[in-house]
Amino acid sequence: MRTNQPTTIRLSEYKVPAHLVDAVDLRFELFDNGARVHSTLTVRRNPESAEEFAPLELDGDSLKLEQVILDGRELMAGNDYDETGAQLVIARVPAQFELTVVTWIEPQNNTRLEGLYKSSGMFCTQCEAEGFRCITYFPDRPDVMARYRTRIEADKASCPVLLSNGNDVDRGDLEGGRHFVTWEDPFPKPSYLFALVAGDLVEKQDTFTTCSGREIDLRIFVEPRNAAKCQHAMDSLKRSMRWDEEVYGREYDLDIFMIVAVDDFNMGAMENKGLNIFNSSCVLASQETATDLAFQRIESIVAHEYFHNWSGNRVTCRDWFQLSLKEGFTVFRDSTFSADMGSPTVKRIEDVTLLRTAQFAEDAGPMAHPVRPASYMEISNFYTLTIYEKGAEVVRMIHTLLGPELFRKGSDLYFERHDGQAVTTDDFVKAMEDASGRDLTQFRLWYDQAGTPVLTVSDVYDSERGVYSLKIQQAIPDTPGQTNKKPQHIPFALGLLGAEGEALPLRLVSTEDAASAPTERVLELTKASHTFEFHGLTQKPVPSLLRHFSAPVRLVYPWSREQLVFLMSHDPDGFNRWDAGQRLAVDVIQSLVDSSGTVDIDSRLVEAYRTLLADRTLDQALVAKMLHLPSEAYLIELADSPDVAAIHRTREQVLSHLATSLRDELVACYHRNMDDGEYEVTPESVARRSLKNTALAWLLMINDNTGRDLALQQLREADNMTDRMGALRALVNSDYAEERSQALADFYEHFQSDPQVVEQWFSVQASSDRAGQLPQIQALLKHPAFDWKNPNKIRSVIGVFAGQNLAAFHNPDGSGYSFLADQVCRLDDSNPQIAARLVAPLTRWKKFAPAYSALMRTALERIRNKAELSADLYEVVHKSLE
Ligand code: PHE
Ligand code: ZN
Repeated sequence: MRTNQPTTIRLSEYKVPAHLVDAVDLRFELFDNGARVHSTLTVRRNPESAEEFAPLELDGDSLKLEQVILDGRELMAGNDYDETGAQLVIARVPAQFELTVVTWIEPQNNTRLEGLYKSSGMFCTQCEAEGFRCITYFPDRPDVMARYRTRIEADKASCPVLLSNGNDVDRGDLEGGRHFVTWEDPFPKPSYLFALVAGDLVEKQDTFTTCSGREIDLRIFVEPRNAAKCQHAMDSLKRSMRWDEEVYGREYDLDIFMIVAVDDFNMGAMENKGLNIFNSSCVLASQETATDLAFQRIESIVAHEYFHNWSGNRVTCRDWFQLSLKEGFTVFRDSTFSADMGSPTVKRIEDVTLLRTAQFAEDAGPMAHPVRPASYMEISNFYTLTIYEKGAEVVRMIHTLLGPELFRKGSDLYFERHDGQAVTTDDFVKAMEDASGRDLTQFRLWYDQAGTPVLTVSDVYDSERGVYSLKIQQAIPDTPGQTNKKPQHIPFALGLLGAEGEALPLRLVSTEDAASAPTERVLELTKASHTFEFHGLTQKPVPSLLRHFSAPVRLVYPWSREQLVFLMSHDPDGFNRWDAGQRLAVDVIQSLVDSSGTVDIDSRLVEAYRTLLADRTLDQALVAKMLHLPSEAYLIELADSPDVAAIHRTREQVLSHLATSLRDELVACYHRNMDDGEYEVTPESVARRSLKNTALAWLLMINDNTGRDLALQQLREADNMTDRMGALRALVNSDYAEERSQALADFYEHFQSDPQVVEQWFSVQASSDRAGQLPQIQALLKHPAFDWKNPNKIRSVIGVFAGQNLAAFHNPDGSGYSFLADQVCRLDDSNPQIAARLVAPLTRWKKFAPAYSALMRTALERIRNKAELSADLYEVVHKSLE
């Protein structure tokens, strides 16, 4: 904790480490009142470092140093070494030596959840990015890679299971009812991938036979009460292992792969070598307790962490500026995996929704940073949508530009060239270039320039020449510290449709043969402005632009509502069909917001939805997505100076108008999708449940009791959480106040012993403008199931309120803002990472209409003035007030 300004770390100041560590020998003595850590490092001077006589500098945080021994000689504080707050410095060291450091730590009092801590009675670690230094003194940077041997000693009764990375090589009993297990990890790794778990756990076991015929032991460790919730994660793991062999040629390398579920975790999951640690909510699932969305999320997170074994662990990051090297690439890998497991179009829609709603907002806000940032104060603040999602889009664009074969050649070369190394995003791009022969010099700007490019498209049709010209201009907005940006290299996929919806041949020169010309092309934009001519067209086509969302950009084109309705039912690209529907709905809602008062809803929107509801030929998963109106968050993101209350009110009006006009179709849709037999998580049955529950939610917007009765019946009869939650959510968001309270009470009564379900119960209330007004949120914080030490509970109430219940959070009296400021200040003392994440909605203050933004700023200033601001919160708050 500090009040002083934290230091800024710059990529331009990167220096290779002065010392390397070849081996780490750890011995943990775990007790109820703390833990003693004995660490012996085999160190040598780095021949590549210019600083020949550099002192040995080890990082540390919240450690009690007990002993330092260098080559068998105990060192004296002050004389031989200095222990400053964050470092242990030994001024004179030989070229090669062995150093033993003994530290005492208190996992039971660790509320930051970095380093070694306790979660529901079990010991566990989180070392990324800089948590290892909370365990022992160490050069805690990813370019120091070492072999680890770890001996864990603990009480046998309370900690029968003792885990660390690699293979278990020795075990035995000790005096006093204690025992030990020793683990050895043969692969050199950075300290952020170290992990340890000790507790009373049960395991689910399985095996996987790799492509070369090796049998891998798979284990998922959970608390005994969760034993029945591991099957889905295990199946997902096996599918991921197979997929990475087939699609990337990557085989698993150790003999055992373990996953552990812990309740208190700052993030979703962590890819520690051979011992992934997961937030319980990202791994545990059963039909009764997890929604379809949760099942899909678990599959993709299990895959993500598994894929890190190659993209992150075998090839790791040189420094934290390169974070997207592993995260962007791994998100790209997991999203392709999910696309292959289900519906690619639906997966793309989900990814783009997140990107456009949240990453674009980040890119337009005070914390905007490039995919490879140039500086940071606190690295924990850079686990962002830009690093992850935009980073994945950048890799996807390389894939688009190279095509699948050359991309695979590139990834093979990358893994082969850099196996066992700590490298940079530039090394990744270089491998892609070398394998494909393509020049990606200009493309690299995607890594260095922040901000979302804006593509402005205009068109003219020359009927005499039969030529359709598209002019595409790109501009990249200024972001903090970056102006006058250069044009980027953008793959732009498009098609043109004729009057009957037929795909027209795209002839870029008049001599091109119509029969062989493709109907979809990827144009490459490299300049601020391009004009493309399409020849041989007998009428003005309808353009289908930026298909599959081929680049993470804002696209501006003056579509007419007729064109959008046309694309909604004719575009061969499913993604663009959905996008046309979104644009139409956005246009209708926006014009109603602007016209303040008159509620005259364009009948074309109603008819487009009517057509959709009747369409049985289209992929029902796509129909389900198309029926979702653009979210409030997205509408706010698109608006200048948004008036949140007006957006909320208008969107509700449009919804209830649609519901009323389409009542019969919705009832039919509900019944048609009702009986889906045995519960399965296949794309088809997920789509059916989604359609049914969307229809239900809409029906509850009409106060004629049809929806209410269906919801109550569904609540009584549901055999799975998706349907239960669908009904509960619809009731909670309805005007049926009595039924709402009853349903919430019954639900809690039934599920109170299951933390993952209680989290959903909190969220459904916190996100509702009916059940989640501030007094109700304050009551949830006092609820016996709420826990200030558990990030999931904090997120499900406070995070959901500020991020999803926008009308209540942006209450014009400023009460939502000041509430958030209070909670952030409180949390900063126990868990700074969580505090710094929760504050995000306030940091966007400049965007909002003046009445809102002044109050948001006041709330931020109050946080800034708090005594003892953590580095995490300091950076976010100060940068957003600049
Ligand atoms: N590296 C983790 C992932 O993306 C995320 C994470 C970061 C977890 C920091 C914990 C701490 O898979
Ligand atoms: Zn990751």
